[in-house]
Amino acid sequence: MATFPIVRPRRLRASSTLRDLVRETTLHASDFIYPMFIVPGEQQRRAVSSMPGVFQLSIDEAAKEAETLAAIGIRAVILFGLPPEKDLRASGAYDDQGIVQRAIPAIRSAVPEMLIITDVCLCEYTSHGHCGVMKGEVLLNDPTLELIARTALSHARAGADVVAPSDMMDGRVAAIRGVLDKEGFQDVPIMSYAVKFASGFYGPFREAADSAPAFGDRRAYQMDPGNAREALKEAALDEAEGADMLIVKPALPYLDLLWRVRERTNLPLVAYNVSGEYAMVKAAAQNDWIDERRVVLEAMTSIRRAGADLIISYHAPDVARWLAEGAS
Ligand code: PBG
Repeated sequence: MATFPIVRPRRLRASSTLRDLVRETTLHASDFIYPMFIVPGEQQRRAVSSMPGVFQLSIDEAAKEAETLAAIGIRAVILFGLPPEKDLRASGAYDDQGIVQRAIPAIRSAVPEMLIITDVCLCEYTSHGHCGVMKGEVLLNDPTLELIARTALSHARAGADVVAPSDMMDGRVAAIRGVLDKEGFQDVPIMSYAVKFASGFYGPFREAADSAPAFGDRRAYQMDPGNAREALKEAALDEAEGADMLIVKPALPYLDLLWRVRERTNLPLVAYNVSGEYAMVKAAAQNDWIDERRVVLEAMTSIRRAGADLIISYHAPDVARWLAEGAS
């Protein structure tokens, strides 16, 4: 192979046009999925203190927000619901008149072309904040599957385009696929949170979604951060059970796994750039310690470079606006 002085890599970095032309990884507004937290009531727009720029929205406000998102090129949202009441069996999660079930048609009529993904989990709906049915301090896998599948079905009935289970129960993709197919929703895709770690980076989300566990933690169902081979096993199992898309979560501390999963699956791969990743950037930016726009675009590019086709991120609207202004 030729080397210096024949080869001069700097030649291709000399102008911004040349750099643009040879860039391997690019960002588009349509790569992003924006998370929304839906609360009861009307005209509610409540700031989430640990996530500057993020609001809990009532259904009417969420519909307006969807219009704003569509206008800047965001084509997909993922919905989280905060029910008026919580109980031991998470009834609000699979209530046909539940908060997410009512938000779907409202967003649909505001922006018919918006892709509506729903997060399927019970932790926002249980009084103890765990992601399923508890027996004492133990989360029971198989009894939870039935409630998860019911929740996914009720989202599909309400018009969800895609369902995204995030509970980390074993067998939930197959359970959901079975129920959806039986009820005539064989064309609703499952975007599975296949590789989801027990992470400190979910802290701010639990304020936004009011879903912190009342006791204990999620280490008996979410993955141990030290495990990479197990991530590949989880991804393979979800694919075998019929997942249509796979999520790796969090994103930035787990780019190695995005890459490794990318090399092993042909399914679309999604990275969830989670609340703590967002909060850290916002806090540093508010202190003028970093250039927010530059850091966010660099981080998003890294996530795509590591293998993500799509990124779920609270930064999505900012990124879409920056890209429209011509940032790269
Ligand atoms: C629900 C769920 C969580 C997140 C997405 N879905 C929280 C958790 O597992 O505790 C976290 C998202 C974020 O931090 O932005 N189970």
